[in-house]
Amino acid sequence: MTAPKIKTPGAQTHWEQVYTTKQDSEVSWFELLPQMSLKMLRVEELAKDARILDAGGGSSHLAEALLDRGFTCITVLDIAAAALERSRKRLGERANKVRWIVADITRWLPEEQYDAWHDRAVFHFLTDAQERAIYRERLASAVVPGGTVVLATFAPDGPERCSGLPVLRYSPEELAREMGSAFQLQQSCRLEHETPAKAVQHFQYSRFCRL
Ligand SMILES: C[S@@+](CC[C@H](N)C(=O)[O-])C[C@H]1O[C@@H](n2cnc3c(N)ncnc32)[C@H](O)[C@@H]1O
Repeated sequence: MTAPKIKTPGAQTHWEQVYTTKQDSEVSWFELLPQMSLKMLRVEELAKDARILDAGGGSSHLAEALLDRGFTCITVLDIAAAALERSRKRLGERANKVRWIVADITRWLPEEQYDAWHDRAVFHFLTDAQERAIYRERLASAVVPGGTVVLATFAPDGPERCSGLPVLRYSPEELAREMGSAFQLQQSCRLEHETPAKAVQHFQYSRFCRL
């Protein structure tokens, strides 16, 4: 594949700035308990040692919720070191039970495979087709056959921007087309997310099986 024209420095600066200037309560995507993520990951069916990646996990409470449920192989990746630092501080000693990776998901080369991949509100920032193709390639190589992929994006009637950046909105069917033949759509759900500022944002969550 030819070298992608990735906007990494700009994206990294943007997200580092977000996490160094705003509290969780000031960002629209904040949620205290990622209930829909847990539901769509079907955590009750996953082995406790399943390798789970939260891609673009930011300062999400998902890793915490997974630790609470006894999961032992959790990785959180994000482009912003400040986001992961915030999560580590919140978790205290328990942070040592999680693997933290600072990387641009469209440049990162996975060193291991995962049984489950979760992405809430990250893929929808990839407005460049080449970036999306690289993401798909990483996803396909990083998730084991039969593995679970949960992608949450803004729905077609969701916001057109997030954190001041343009996003692409998807129905589950559109997302399935975008993901291609290596992923089979298994379940989708809509979610009305209430932001800390009490606005409502329409999300869709889709679960795929890596074929
Ligand atoms: C809207 S936030 C969602 C955070 C988290 N998934 C959640 O649900 O709370 C988007 C996250 O994606 C991260 N991000 C954006 N572009 C990225 C990229 N190219 N690679 C890795 N992380 C990225 C940002 O730093 C930010 O934490």
